[in-house]
Amino acid sequence: MAAFPLISPSILSADFARLGEEVRAIDAAGADWIHLDVMDGHFVPNITIGPAVVKALRPHSAKPFDVHLMIAPVDLYLQAFAEAGADVITVHPEAGPHIHRTLQAIRALGKKAGVALNPGTPAKMLDYLIDEIDLVLVMSVNPGFGGQSFITSQLRKIEAIRKAIEKSGRAIYLEVDGGVDALTARQCVNAGADVLVAGSASFKGGPEQYRANITALKGAV
Ligand code: DX5
Ligand code: ZN
Repeated sequence: MAAFPLISPSILSADFARLGEEVRAIDAAGADWIHLDVMDGHFVPNITIGPAVVKALRPHSAKPFDVHLMIAPVDLYLQAFAEAGADVITVHPEAGPHIHRTLQAIRALGKKAGVALNPGTPAKMLDYLIDEIDLVLVMSVNPGFGGQSFITSQLRKIEAIRKAIEKSGRAIYLEVDGGVDALTARQCVNAGADVLVAGSASFKGGPEQYRANITALKGAV
């Protein structure tokens, strides 16, 4: 059993020409999960990977695949990502049209269902979803790119969601994504987060640094 916080390195900051090797290297360096950012150039202003790449990466790690879908529409593609090897599938309410139905569909595929809240989306969005989810992803940057600065106002949202999770009595991961480094990792965990996505902070310096990078994130809290 891995110790909290779990670290979920985002391969958005990996070398895309060597993705399989990069996933193996970050796994061997102590990653708890592997975070895969899927972007469509429509819901967010960037384009990344689809289910074929997730499937191709699956044999390179036995760690949970934490798939963050920034695509609209999303329902049409849930099955493809489930079959490609996703373990957690996280979606944005704004991707529409019916977030509750989307979460039910993810669970019907036998996967963990996550909701991602953009910096401008209130924690209240979760009020009628809490029974349908296994994870909340607080976006501490606007989605689309790695390497952005952490938006500090999101710490209050993390605190509010931690309270809501405790009140629900359910086992729900509280994950933070964007601008996580040693300093903000500590702030996020103090606010109640238990899973940290880290792109730049995991992959900086190349493969020789990965273990030190992940150890630094875990040790910072
Ligand atoms: C942004 C993505 C993040 C991103 C984080 O839309 O969801 O997962 O890769 O990158 P860093 O850790 O560099 O902010
Ligand atoms: Zn992400």
